[in-house]
Amino acid sequence: MSGEKFYITTPIYYPSDKLHIGHSYCTVATDAMARYKRMQGCDVMFLTGTDEHGQKIQEKAEAAGVTPQQYVDQVVSGIQDLWKLMNISYDRFIRTTDDYHQESVQKIFRQLYEQGDIYKSVYKGKYCTPCESFWTETQLVDGKCPDCGREVHDAEEESYFFRLSNYADRLLEYYREHPDFLEPASRLNEMINNFIKPGLEDLCVSRTTFNWGVPVDFDPKHVVYVWIDALSNYITALGYGNSRYHDFEKYWPADVHFVGKEIVRFHSIIWPAMLMALKLPLPKKVYGHGWLLLEGGKMSKSKGNVVDPAILCERYGVDAIRYFLLREFPFGSDGVFSNEALISRINADLANDLGNLVSRSVSMVEKYFGGTLPAERQAGPEDEPLLEMARALKDRYTEQMEKYQFQNALIETFKLVSRTNKYIDETAPWVLGKEESGRARLAAVLYNLLDMLRLASICLTPFMPETAAKIRAQIGAAEEICTYDALGQVGLLPAQVTVHKGETLFPRIDMEKELAALEAAQHPAAKEEAPAPKKKEEKAPAPAGIITIDEFAKVELRVAQVTACEPVPKADKLLRLELDDGSGQTRQVVSGIAAWYRPEDLLGKKVMVVANLAPAKLRGVVSNGMILAADTDGAARVIFVDDSVPCGAKVR
Ligand code: ME8
Repeated sequence: MSGEKFYITTPIYYPSDKLHIGHSYCTVATDAMARYKRMQGCDVMFLTGTDEHGQKIQEKAEAAGVTPQQYVDQVVSGIQDLWKLMNISYDRFIRTTDDYHQESVQKIFRQLYEQGDIYKSVYKGKYCTPCESFWTETQLVDGKCPDCGREVHDAEEESYFFRLSNYADRLLEYYREHPDFLEPASRLNEMINNFIKPGLEDLCVSRTTFNWGVPVDFDPKHVVYVWIDALSNYITALGYGNSRYHDFEKYWPADVHFVGKEIVRFHSIIWPAMLMALKLPLPKKVYGHGWLLLEGGKMSKSKGNVVDPAILCERYGVDAIRYFLLREFPFGSDGVFSNEALISRINADLANDLGNLVSRSVSMVEKYFGGTLPAERQAGPEDEPLLEMARALKDRYTEQMEKYQFQNALIETFKLVSRTNKYIDETAPWVLGKEESGRARLAAVLYNLLDMLRLASICLTPFMPETAAKIRAQIGAAEEICTYDALGQVGLLPAQVTVHKGETLFPRIDMEKELAALEAAQHPAAKEEAPAPKKKEEKAPAPAGIITIDEFAKVELRVAQVTACEPVPKADKLLRLELDDGSGQTRQVVSGIAAWYRPEDLLGKKVMVVANLAPAKLRGVVSNGMILAADTDGAARVIFVDDSVPCGAKVR
């Protein structure tokens, strides 16, 4: 592990002035993996880049009145800016227009030609003159051009071909001997049954109808087919066939190529066959991830249904977006992106679970010990189950990361976060803080909270590097005790650790308001052009004594924990409660339940609070909301909520 090389790649992207959140998905996943491997001490090479040749680029440049080179230069810097914004830590960025790459591609093409793997012949197919495109019979849609829908005619073009058909048996044998070569496994069956078994045809690998590509050096009216050009990037970027780089021996074969599922075919059939022809080792793994869909369809610029990652990063911070992408969707499957899912995820996991734990823990160290814990600590019965879970985290997390199961790795991490929140409920620090005799125990509890946050911050480093660093700064954990090795040990914080309260990591987002604002930010034109909203249909009024769902929805009910409770002086019936409602601020509520409850009956309990009730003064004490209680024969019975429900959770 430590010191081992790890070579990981994203696909190289077509230059586009609008990369959407779907494009970012693969790059963010690759970045998380690269950071994880670096954290383990591996010598990582993370390669990404741009795939800049081909007829479409040439056409776009012509339409824009610039040369193809000028066109790609403009767009590529935008892509690099996006990766910067998303905190992508690539080690090398390759452009297929880079001279060294073109030189290598020419050498590869020539070698394959000289050894007989590439031969010259005639490509026979259907031709669409307006589009200048060749199509095979099966690519046509209703016998017409799939691009423009016009008539096609029989045509021939002199072309070079790669003897892909020669490699079918060797590919099948390779898959048999390396069952993990392509994952998820379902994709391998698809390749075998849909492409290899029906018979592999030789592949047309040169074009003469446009010239924006790598010229075949011994026959320059041909340019190399874009996929031969593009796939080669994984080795040319290491210096194969050029003298720009010198680490081919060190890094090849790649440990993993991350690719979207629609390009698995190129990476698991054409690319291995090319490498076999070049007598080079094959990549250890190709991982075909799923697509991010939007309203049932793949996000794509041509459909106009894209989500701009820059807007999302600006509103919620890059770490929240990175977290959402890798936590929400299993990496190998498709997932449906929605603004609502994003905001829910941020609120539930990042604001409530994680952010709240950081702010509560740090605040309590400040409140009870002035910011520095004392060395005297007293262990208690609640500690062991928590520490046991913490000790098991490294293995559980590692197992998932090694399988590229990012979602599961994050679930394991957040199990510890939730368990730690529960530990606060179990140990009730606010009770310990009341008595001098509880101080050593309180110190132990708070120490454990900070130490659990240290472990969580290590696991989160590959996913949310900035947040992980902010957590460390707040809990006073030095970098040396936040390494991958340190993930395996509890109790590494200094005995007299000092905290530094910082900003709220993830403020809670008001779903309704934010959805409207986000919609307007993502589709400003749609908003302007949208017809005036229809008047709401008049609904029949609800019968007397019945409320509509809309009326009920106006009541904001939240789960909150009682952190302090005392009688209101000179008011027999009233108790004053302090509540943690997940907002990061203490909520004070006055409740007329003193006849049935003593303060200690309520301390540490979770209750339901009406959170949007207008404030009221009861005997001179302000009450912000009301806790719910059942009325049983005139006696109030407070409605308690299960411990596992986090503070701030909305009741619906
Ligand atoms: O395919 N969800 O480039 P590209 C998830 N140049 N992933 C998506 C996506 C979505 N909605 N939309 C795109 C190419 N992607 C070639 C690669 S490699 C030698 C050449 C992913 O810009 C897509 O699956 O069209 C692919 O992995 C990557 O973005 C780049 O796509």
